[in-house]
Amino acid sequence: MKRIGIVCDGGDAPGINTAIRAIARASFEKEYEVLGFIDGFHGLIENDVKIITKSSVSGILALGGSILGISRFNPYRDPKYVEAIRENFKKNSLTLLVFIGDRDTVTIAKRLADDGIPSIVIPKTIDNDVYGTDYSVGFDTAVSMIAQSLDNLHATASAHHRLMVVETMGRETGWLALFGGLAGGADYIVIPEVPFTIEEIAAHVEKRKKEGKNFSIVVVAEGVVLPDEDKSKFEFDEFGHKVNAKRMVGYRLASKLEELTHLKSRVMVLGYLQRGGIPTNTDRILATRLGVEAVNLVGLGTSNVVLGVKNGEIITTAYEDAYDKIHTADTKYYELARIFF
Ligand code: F6P
Repeated sequence: MKRIGIVCDGGDAPGINTAIRAIARASFEKEYEVLGFIDGFHGLIENDVKIITKSSVSGILALGGSILGISRFNPYRDPKYVEAIRENFKKNSLTLLVFIGDRDTVTIAKRLADDGIPSIVIPKTIDNDVYGTDYSVGFDTAVSMIAQSLDNLHATASAHHRLMVVETMGRETGWLALFGGLAGGADYIVIPEVPFTIEEIAAHVEKRKKEGKNFSIVVVAEGVVLPDEDKSKFEFDEFGHKVNAKRMVGYRLASKLEELTHLKSRVMVLGYLQRGGIPTNTDRILATRLGVEAVNLVGLGTSNVVLGVKNGEIITTAYEDAYDKIHTADTKYYELARIFF
């Protein structure tokens, strides 16, 4: 009898419940048992766990958030947490853990694998920065939310003839700003992967004005560092990421653009709204495919890999090859978006 333990780690993203349902339903087909740990690593460390049944995953396909809860926690901050994970893995007679997680999860999963605790990672993050997949669960839903926000902001920006700066999430990568901006018709996109100067953005906004466009929407990724920002003031989390929610790059960029262009600006930080909502069909299908594949891999005795999709096909990448890499935004999409600036 195989027993799978599900752990949700990192920031939540639409489609987590879809993945939980897929893992559970595919497992029941094979008569595997499934346990769900509550609130991510906290549940795994404190053995706060529940048996997943068919009825516990009924009606959750389209539900945002996570029925198991989720947390951002590095068990390697103290050896006693790793010891507790080892004990609970044994106590629950687990075959393997399935992490529904992000880039940091892959790093932790690799360390746990090195310490003898096997797992598989299903990548879920609105940031789309997990190495080993073209798309992570939740990204498509967040892009839809950004595009819809830009649709709404076009109306107010044009009525008031304003310069709107819209800040998206994305950590060190610009996927959300790029795809959201492309889908929503941004007039300029600023992402960490593409060098820029404030002067060239200002010149572009002014050019638009001269051409009769009395408003502009600039989308900026939270991870962008402005040329004159004081990096010594950055706050970092325990995984070494800038705490972008406190940097507010959108506000800084807007005030610099206002100085240079003398246009009235307004800022919209989309923030945590990007993580909510009903998963799109694309995310539901991705989460379902990856959840079912995770169970297939358990049957094959495969572990310590990140699942993903490449050109539409499901692939696996060994932790060893993925844990220290970032999936950065593909700049060919920037060239595409630029045509419409
Ligand atoms: O990783 C997803 C994400 O939403 C990032 O885009 C953002 O920087 C971060 O999480 C915020 O994390 P927290 O929920 O810990 O504030």
